[in-house]
Amino acid sequence: MPLPCQVKIVEVGPRDGLQNEKQVVPTAVKIELIDRLSAAGLPGIEATSFVSPKWVPQMADNSAVLQGIRRRPGTAYPVLTPNLQGFDSAMQAGATEVAIFAAASESFSRKNINCSIAESLKRFEPVISAASALEIPVRGYVSCVVGCPYEGEIDPAAAATVARTLADMGCYEVSLGDTIGVGTPASIRRLLEACLRQLPAKRLAGHYHDTYGMAIANIYASLELGIATFDASVAGLGGCPYARGASGNVASEDVVYLLHGLGIETGIDLAKLAAIGDWISSAINRPNGAKAGRALCAKATE
Ligand code: HMG
Ligand code: MG
Repeated sequence: MPLPCQVKIVEVGPRDGLQNEKQVVPTAVKIELIDRLSAAGLPGIEATSFVSPKWVPQMADNSAVLQGIRRRPGTAYPVLTPNLQGFDSAMQAGATEVAIFAAASESFSRKNINCSIAESLKRFEPVISAASALEIPVRGYVSCVVGCPYEGEIDPAAAATVARTLADMGCYEVSLGDTIGVGTPASIRRLLEACLRQLPAKRLAGHYHDTYGMAIANIYASLELGIATFDASVAGLGGCPYARGASGNVASEDVVYLLHGLGIETGIDLAKLAAIGDWISSAINRPNGAKAGRALCAKATE
């Protein structure tokens, strides 16, 4: 199969990235990050999450972030909503797209959202019907699609069943989360083959954390199977508060460098993106996790 000519990157740094920072990141920095990312041409930016502030204190300023950004026409700003309470708050704050998140592993589901997989799907039903009544698009996530920090290896069929259920419930796209970044091209291929038996490639996205440095290879393996949407995090920000040791998402700069190198269009200005990665890393005082980003910034100052 030829590789896709165009790929959509969903930037998840402001949510998946920053949710894991121990120090509270000022709201103004979050807003500036999102506005800089939209100016660099990112077509989708996951802005924040409307989860319980007791569970993830870093996202407690969700409404202020969503209301403070300058919305760029053509950019989507999805936000995570784990239940109807989160959905209602997101609507009040002016969200125009939401994402619900389930898991392929029972233990992770309990640790992350305090309920079983079946209970979570039940909990999402009213969210999806409320969203549908308001014509709000809903994206779905499945976490731990290849491995779980508590249960180890995950059966690809289990992940595919949850993905299919979310799609059947009304999610326009399901993002497959290798939450702890243990996948390799072999296990990601097995996962995708199972999912592609249930759903077309255009309804699937790859969301790969880079704990073992495999995410770029996993994206290439996914491209070969026709997947054309990937989540990524500028500067490789992040981790998961409920998956100890998991590192951030694959760095957006590295993904864009790979895609442009393959002649695949993204609509993203890579030089601007690299500068954003550099800026946010110093703003929150952490090393820049993007290899391509670091190289491009070093070259720009030569
Ligand atoms: P719970 O404690 O079972 O909730 O948490 P509850 O319904 O029993 O309510 C308890 C309290 O929480 C109540 O307050 C509610 O009002 C409040 P109290 O009466 O005690 O003062 N509450 C809320 N407050 C604000 N917003 C809400 C909300 N809901 C209840 N939406 C719950 C269940 C789902 C809320 C909780 O477990 C939670 O917020 N979990 C989110 C955890 C999270 O954000 N994890 C990270 C995101 S997922 C991820 O990173 C993976 C992903 O990137 C993909 C991948 O990498 O695999 C997406
Ligand atoms: Mg994630």
